[in-house]
Amino acid sequence: RSFLQTVGRVTLGVVVLSGGAFIYVVQRDRHPGQQAAHDPAKKTVVVLGSGWAATSLLKKLDTEYFNVVVISPHNYFLFTPLLPSVSVGTLEPRSIIQPTRYITRHKKRRVEVYEGEARSVDVKNKTVTFVDNSDIKGAVSATTIPYDYLVYAVGAENQTFGIPGVREHSCFLKELPDAEKLRTRLMDCVETAAFKGQEDAEIDRLMHIMVVGGGPTGVEFAGELHDFLVDDLQSWYPELANRLKISLIEALPNVLPVFSKQLIQYTESTFKANKIDILTRTMVKEVKEKTVVVQDESKQLKEIPYGMLVWAAGNTSRQITRDLMAQLPDVQNQRRGLLVDEYLRLLGGDGVFALGDCTATSYAPTAQVASQQGAYIARALEQMAKKEQLEKTLHSLRASSNSKPEEIEAVVKQINKVSKIKPFHYSHQGSLAYIGSEKAVADLPFFNGNLATGGVATFLFWRSAYISNLLSARNRFLVLNDWMKVKLFGRDVSRE
Ligand code: FAD
Ligand code: NAI
Repeated sequence: RSFLQTVGRVTLGVVVLSGGAFIYVVQRDRHPGQQAAHDPAKKTVVVLGSGWAATSLLKKLDTEYFNVVVISPHNYFLFTPLLPSVSVGTLEPRSIIQPTRYITRHKKRRVEVYEGEARSVDVKNKTVTFVDNSDIKGAVSATTIPYDYLVYAVGAENQTFGIPGVREHSCFLKELPDAEKLRTRLMDCVETAAFKGQEDAEIDRLMHIMVVGGGPTGVEFAGELHDFLVDDLQSWYPELANRLKISLIEALPNVLPVFSKQLIQYTESTFKANKIDILTRTMVKEVKEKTVVVQDESKQLKEIPYGMLVWAAGNTSRQITRDLMAQLPDVQNQRRGLLVDEYLRLLGGDGVFALGDCTATSYAPTAQVASQQGAYIARALEQMAKKEQLEKTLHSLRASSNSKPEEIEAVVKQINKVSKIKPFHYSHQGSLAYIGSEKAVADLPFFNGNLATGGVATFLFWRSAYISNLLSARNRFLVLNDWMKVKLFGRDVSRE
C-alpha cells in the first residue's frame, strides 16, 4: 500500500512538473523575441496576402537575407478546411485563425505587417499601392511602396458567373465573416419560422436551405448543417426540425467531381440517408430574394422558394489580379488566373512570383498546392540571396591579390550549388472531405495506387489530420476544446 502511495506521489509530482514546464515554455514563447531591424542594404520582399501560400512562405523564409513586408486586408491566417464547421457553431471563429504577427514573431529580422488591401501592382516600376479599407482610417490611408521581389498570393473570390441576384441574395463561405454571417442567418430563418402564428407555406420556405455547388465546399457545408439539425435543432425546435430541408444543387452529373467514383457514390448515398436532396444536372439561372430559378436536365425552368441560399460555385480572379493581367496582355491571357512558369515566376513580371488560387496552373486551387508553393518560393528566395552574397564574395576575392585559387574555386562551387533551383514540384497528399454524421471521405495516394475510404474511421482520420495541420498549439487547444464543448453541451443556438 505504501509503495503504491509513493508511486502515486511521484506520478503526481511528474505531472505537476511537466505541466509547469509546458506552461513556462508556452508563456515564454508567445511574444516576439529580439528581432533585427530592416536593413537598407538588403532586398525587400513584399508579400501580398496572409492565406495559405503567403503564410507557408512566411513560416519558411529566412529573414536574415531580406526585409519582408506583408500586406493583407486580414491581419490573420484562416485555416479554411475547418471553416464549414464555424458556419453552424461546431467551432468558434477565433479557434481557426492565427494572427500573422504571431506567425512571424520569432523571425531573425522583424517582419512588417500592414493590414491593408493592395489596389494595384505596377510591374514596370516595381511598386505596390495599398489602402486601409477598415472602418477606422487615419490621416494616411493609402500609400505606395517599392519591392525587389513581390510574392503575389491574394487568392481568389467567389465565382458568380454574372448570374443575376447572386451577390445580393446569397451567402458565401470563403472568409471568416462569411461563416459568422451564415450562422446568424441560419438562426434568423429558424427563429422567424418559429414566430407565433407563422404560416405553413412560409415555415417551409424559411426552413429550406439551398446550397449551390456540389464541390467540396458545398458538400461539407451541407454535411455540417445536417449535424446541426440532428444534434441540436431537433431538441430545441422539435416542431420545426422535421421541416428543415437541405437541397444541394449541382450543374454536373454528380457531386465531388475530383473524388473517385466510389466515394462520390458513398457521399450521395450518405446524403440520401440524411435526407439531403441532391439535384444534379441542375443549373441556377437567377437568385431572387425568396426564390431561386433553376434549369433542370430537361431544360425546364423551375422557381423554388428558399429561406437561405449558400453559394459555393467555385473561384474567379480578384479585380486586382484582372488589372495585373491587363498590364501584360501579350502574356497574361487566361481569365482563370495568372500564368506563371515552372518556377512560379509571373509571365511578364520581373521579380514577381504568383502562388496559390490566383494562378491558372494544372493544379487544383487547394490549400495543399498553395502551401507547397509558399514553401518552395521561400527556399528559392533563400538560394537567390545566397547566390548574390557569394557572387559579391567572389568579386572581392578576384579583386584581391592575396586570394588563393582554392578559395576562389570553393566559392565558385558553392555558387554553382545554389544556382540550381529546381522547378516547382507538387506532391499530392490526398483529398479529404467531411460529409456529415461523423463520416468523411478520403482519396489517399497509397504506395503507387489510390486508397478510397469513407466512414466513421475516416472521420477520425480527418479530425486528426486537421488537428495536426493546424498552425499552432493555441489553435489545436481551441479546436479540441470546441469539439469537446459541443459533445458535452451541444451547439449554441443563440442568434448573435
Ligand atoms: P487564400 O488562402 O485565400 O489567401 C489569400 C489572402 O490574400 C488572404 O489572406 C486575403 O485576405 C488576402 N487578400 C485578398 N485580397 C487582397 C489584396 N487586394 N491585397 C492583399 N491581400 C489580399 N483546400 C484544401 O486543400 N483542403 C481543404 O480541406 C480545403 N477546404 C476548404 C474549405 C473552404 C470552405 C474553402 C473556401 C476552401 C477550402 N480549400 C481547401 C481551398 C483552400 O482554402 C484554398 O485553395 C487556399 O486558401 C488558397 O490559398 P491562397 O494563399 O492562394 O489564398
Ligand atoms: P468547386 O469549383 O470545386 O465546385 C463548384 C461546383 O459548383 C462545381 O461542381 C460546379 O459545377 C458547380 N456550379 C457552378 N455554377 C453552378 C450553377 N449555376 N448551378 C449549379 N451548380 C453550379 O468549388 P469549391 O467547392 O468552393 O472548391 C474550391 C476549391 O477549394 C477546389 O479546388 C476544392 O478542391 C477546394 N476545396 C477543398 C476542400 C477539401 O479538400 N475538403 C474543401 C473545400 C474546398
